[in-house]
Amino acid sequence: MRHESPVLTPSAVRSAPSFDGILAAAEAIRPVLPPTPAWSYPVLDARIGSHIVVKHENVQPIGAFKVRGGVTLAAARTPDERRGIVTVSTGNHAQSMAFAGRSAGVPVTIVMPTSAPANKVQAVRALGGTVVLEGRTMAESAQHAVALAERKGLFFLNPGNEPAIIHGHGTVYLELLRDHPEIETLYVPVGSGSGAAGAVMVRDAIAPHVRVVGVQAAGAPAAYRSWASGRIESAPSDTFASGLATGTGFAVPQSILRGGLDDFLLVTEGELRDALRIMASDAHTLCEGAGVAGLAGAIADTRRPGVVGFACTGGNADADEIRALSG
Ligand SMILES: Cc1ncc(COP(=O)(O)O)c(C=O)c1O
Repeated sequence: MRHESPVLTPSAVRSAPSFDGILAAAEAIRPVLPPTPAWSYPVLDARIGSHIVVKHENVQPIGAFKVRGGVTLAAARTPDERRGIVTVSTGNHAQSMAFAGRSAGVPVTIVMPTSAPANKVQAVRALGGTVVLEGRTMAESAQHAVALAERKGLFFLNPGNEPAIIHGHGTVYLELLRDHPEIETLYVPVGSGSGAAGAVMVRDAIAPHVRVVGVQAAGAPAAYRSWASGRIESAPSDTFASGLATGTGFAVPQSILRGGLDDFLLVTEGELRDALRIMASDAHTLCEGAGVAGLAGAIADTRRPGVVGFACTGGNADADEIRALSG
């Protein structure tokens, strides 16, 4: 289905994302967020049949890589944005903006879908963010967020299309590919595509031999369909991996992913659940659904990947994800 979301298109994009922007973001986040560790696990390597480097974004202060985007944006904020930001999120971007807003003294309101995991809503409130639960999908919540920002005269932050956010997320892959030149295939979870767009720009600049493969849930394939058709598409959001479920493609990351991704895989709910269990047993790591999409993609890929890199992008497992570990 073709669908141009009126609120998630890049009308307010200030400048195109760039590798220089990622380098600047790495400087901006350094005082707040130290580099995360990357480890390998012989049991995991043996099970998958490839050497695997796991970048642990689950140890970030909010339990997910998204904090890099929020801290980058807060560092680059304009006087107008300092009065208050309204944004939209299924959970981890919400925590990121609440964390960054608190440390920068910027009030942040986050519109979240009514289906957002309770643990994430609670965490955002604990970080001092104002949560408004409106809309069944992220696209519906975004419409509420835009209207709210207009009513209050505040800046609406479009989480997928904002260059500062993409630059911040790209720093994950700057650290990973700089420290691990042995990686041959990088599997990147895709929701809005901001992290994957950052990965492509880093790869192009410092590791052009690396294949970058996007991974999304088959039940929530908006970014996949947008990438495949070359247009912004909407799609159902039917997955427990809430970070992968955006309901619509985002134009700015799509413009980078289109020619930049070497492949784009869809994984099933069962494959994501298997990957959750494998990360818990082989890598001593509690992940959330979106956080294991990279591993699920590596396992599902029919091409020989060589040395694999992926980030456990988030560890904010909700009660269902924790239950999946025993099933
Ligand atoms: C843990 C986690 N992984 C991956 C993603 C997808 O990231 P992006 O929206 O940058 O594609 C998200 C998005 O919220 C997330 O929370």
